[in-house]
Amino acid sequence: MTGKNHYHIVTFGCQMNESDSERMHGIMDQLGYTETGSIDNSDVILINTCCVRETAENKVYGLLGRLKKIKEKRPELVIGVGGCMTQLESTAAHIKKRYPYVNFVFGTGLMHQLPDLLERATESKKTMIICPTPEGVYEGLPVKRADGLKAWVPVMYGCDNFCTYCIVPHVRGRERSRRPEDILKEVKDLTLSGCKEVTLLGQNVNSYGKDFGNGYGFGDLLDCLNNVEGLLRIRFMTSHPKDFSFGLIDSLERNPKVCEHFHIPLQSGSDHVLKAMNRGYDREYYLGLISGIRKRIPRASITTDIMVGFPGETEEDFAATIDMLERVGYDAAYTFIYNIRSGTPAEKMADQIPGEEKTRRIGALIKRQNQISIEKNTEEAGRIHQVLVEGPSKSDEELMTGRTRTNKLVIFPGRSFKKGDLADVKIIGGTLTYLKGEEPGEKKCPCVGNIAEV
Ligand code: SAH
Ligand code: SF4
Ligand code: F3S
Repeated sequence: MTGKNHYHIVTFGCQMNESDSERMHGIMDQLGYTETGSIDNSDVILINTCCVRETAENKVYGLLGRLKKIKEKRPELVIGVGGCMTQLESTAAHIKKRYPYVNFVFGTGLMHQLPDLLERATESKKTMIICPTPEGVYEGLPVKRADGLKAWVPVMYGCDNFCTYCIVPHVRGRERSRRPEDILKEVKDLTLSGCKEVTLLGQNVNSYGKDFGNGYGFGDLLDCLNNVEGLLRIRFMTSHPKDFSFGLIDSLERNPKVCEHFHIPLQSGSDHVLKAMNRGYDREYYLGLISGIRKRIPRASITTDIMVGFPGETEEDFAATIDMLERVGYDAAYTFIYNIRSGTPAEKMADQIPGEEKTRRIGALIKRQNQISIEKNTEEAGRIHQVLVEGPSKSDEELMTGRTRTNKLVIFPGRSFKKGDLADVKIIGGTLTYLKGEEPGEKKCPCVGNIAEV
């Protein structure tokens, strides 16, 4: 140990990385370090990296560049780089060569090795690299969460799908599920410390449990977590369309804590692009899922991920994606420009789309989706939603914010409410990103399970 005790963790990427960073925070606190919230006055800086697109990597390189000056002034500063970027051999080697002042590079899921790495950090003048292929699941690590009300809970790690554009399976390893008893323990402990909502995380939650080989699946896990006393809401993401089963809807119907929101990435609305992406479904199949969900849970919210500019995407293919936006009527969509990832099959595909064309397509996609999102949110006017209150709005202390079961942000006057309360809020209007609510009448008891709507 260096004898110094201030640290800062910088996290890039998805909720999985956020969740890993929460475990790193837990370990650092247990080691007696204090988080400073800034790179300037820390003795240890840990960077949790993402490589899903080049922009994410560039942010990391930009930060490493800035750290050079700080390290020159304070050579005793310890810098550790972890997360997805480190799992690519060439990237780890590049970090060592170009940023030799980094003390150690550690692979995804190696948080448990942090105490040892910190111990050894100053022993060697050279960057240590410890990035084995990710495997197994480490339980029992301490966790420190940013928010007490809501928590990310990983239920599985890795991905077996190998979509042809995607680096995730290459850096996160094969799919492996956490044991239900470990997840249950984590969720029970969370609720004991005041947490009211958990979001179960996995690249493809519908294949949870396949590796157990005993028939136990995601629906069983939801059944089990629904019984946790004190917990009000259960969310989950991501649902890969190819593994989505209507059994999930059965489970949602019998488990009132499970919320009516599905994040089902479409990626493209064109059958031939979906095939080239290796997504394992076509438009018809996807639309069948959506109509099945709408039939049984008409007011469920549905969000998605969409990519434009995949190699070979024609104007017609792009039009098919826009057509799917219209047909499905997504509440919201995360939109991405395809970005070549070295080592993936799509890297070598012919007909890469020129940058300016990709920019045009994403502009048109966002424009249309924004209109749809505004329409969807406006349609909520007049309905009553159960809102889990998160606290006062940052811009106006008089207003409270919270989320509906369908994961929509609501802003409403409600000074008698506090963080963690449930409020039945009548919606009076909708914008692109949030719903406006009316001041609720009396406080609601924190019972669960009413899909509150008129
Ligand atoms: N497991 C999730 C997605 C995880 S990555 C799923 O399959 O749905 C999050 C999103 O990043 C993906 O849905 C995809 O839209 C986007 N993405 C992944 N690789 C990309 C790439 N090479 N270029 C652009 N976007 C990409
Ligand atoms: Fe990537 Fe596809 Fe796996 Fe999602 S399912 S993480 S997009 S390979
Ligand atoms: Fe997530 Fe980025 Fe890794 S999206 S899984 S942090 S590559």
